[in-house]
Amino acid sequence: MSKCTMPDDTIRPRKLGDFIGQNDLRGNLEVFIKAAQNAGTAMDHTLFYGNPGLGKTTLARIISSELGVNMVSTSGPVMERSGDLAAILTNLERGDILFIDEIHRMPATVEEVLYPAMEDFQIDLVIGSGPGARTVKLDLEPFTLVGATTRIGLLTSPLRDRFGCIFRIDFYSPEELAAIVKRASTIIDVKVSDEGALTIGKRSRGTPRIANRLLRRVKDFASVHGDGNIDRELAEMALDRLDVDPYGLDHMDRRILTLMIEHFGGGPVGVKTLAAACAEEVRTIEDIYEPFLIQCGFLKRTPRGRVATPKAYKHLRMRLEDGDDQLTLI
Ligand SMILES: Nc1ncnc2c1ncn2[C@@H]1O[C@H](COP(=O)(O)OP(=O)(O)OP(=O)(O)O)[C@@H](O)[C@H]1O
Ligand SMILES: [Mg+2]
Repeated sequence: MSKCTMPDDTIRPRKLGDFIGQNDLRGNLEVFIKAAQNAGTAMDHTLFYGNPGLGKTTLARIISSELGVNMVSTSGPVMERSGDLAAILTNLERGDILFIDEIHRMPATVEEVLYPAMEDFQIDLVIGSGPGARTVKLDLEPFTLVGATTRIGLLTSPLRDRFGCIFRIDFYSPEELAAIVKRASTIIDVKVSDEGALTIGKRSRGTPRIANRLLRRVKDFASVHGDGNIDRELAEMALDRLDVDPYGLDHMDRRILTLMIEHFGGGPVGVKTLAAACAEEVRTIEDIYEPFLIQCGFLKRTPRGRVATPKAYKHLRMRLEDGDDQLTLI
């Protein structure tokens, strides 16, 4: 359990009004927060799902600050025994938010404690052991569970069904990311032109966390190689030096595509084979690289495995010659 402060914290939006993009989600969330305030009750349990760095933790914090309640944070894999979760639940105060990150990685025995807690604000405690063991029900204060996951598909349906609000967070447009860069630039104190912000936005893989990270690195280039300000030219130079291409693909993205094309004839290739070839974890490929490559149309998932698309060949300037397996750089 932690109330963490990360380096990102200074940039993280604290109010819904500062959260950029995801307009439908933001509008709906505002309604649910206001309705809970009007009714004076805990907000319904809420689940956020989407790729890493898109704003799940940020939104959980925003809910707690908008409602003016405490937020207790934990994550699925750190709760090993049902007692770990029971201890957290019994310490919650009325209206508190319990934020469980990576909720899909919670052990099944722990998850079962959550069912009555979410539904009836009760937990079943087993007292004693063996034939003399008995169960007592313990009442909890009404609370709001906010769950975050990068893998909604791995959530069991009993758990998923107990969330009253389920929000999917999508990749951001370059314009939204440019607005995020502009906002962050005022916080980290660097001047960025509109075009400079858009250049960074376009190369941030649709992800605010990456936009903020690239902004910091481009700022370093601006202070060493420029006059401290970021315009389009400086942003392009810095991002080229950082090996982030105009689509936002980095070295690893290109390596995945190149390996698929050079070693596996463009696919289909299974993700395990691909991960072994790249010396990467399967989960990292699936959670971090693949979703964006799919979103950009460089990679396709088929029942027989992953396939590199003609767009990937074009982007990497490679061509598979008809009738032979020779790759040519064009
Ligand atoms: N809509 C947004 N507007 C402005 N900044 C944002 C937005 N979404 C995210 N950010 C920024 O991006 C950073 C990463 O967001 P966050 O930590 O909420 O992602 P996450 O979805 O929880 O990622 P993970 O799955 O890795 O836990 C935050 O520090 C915040 O500054
Ligand atoms: Mg998070």
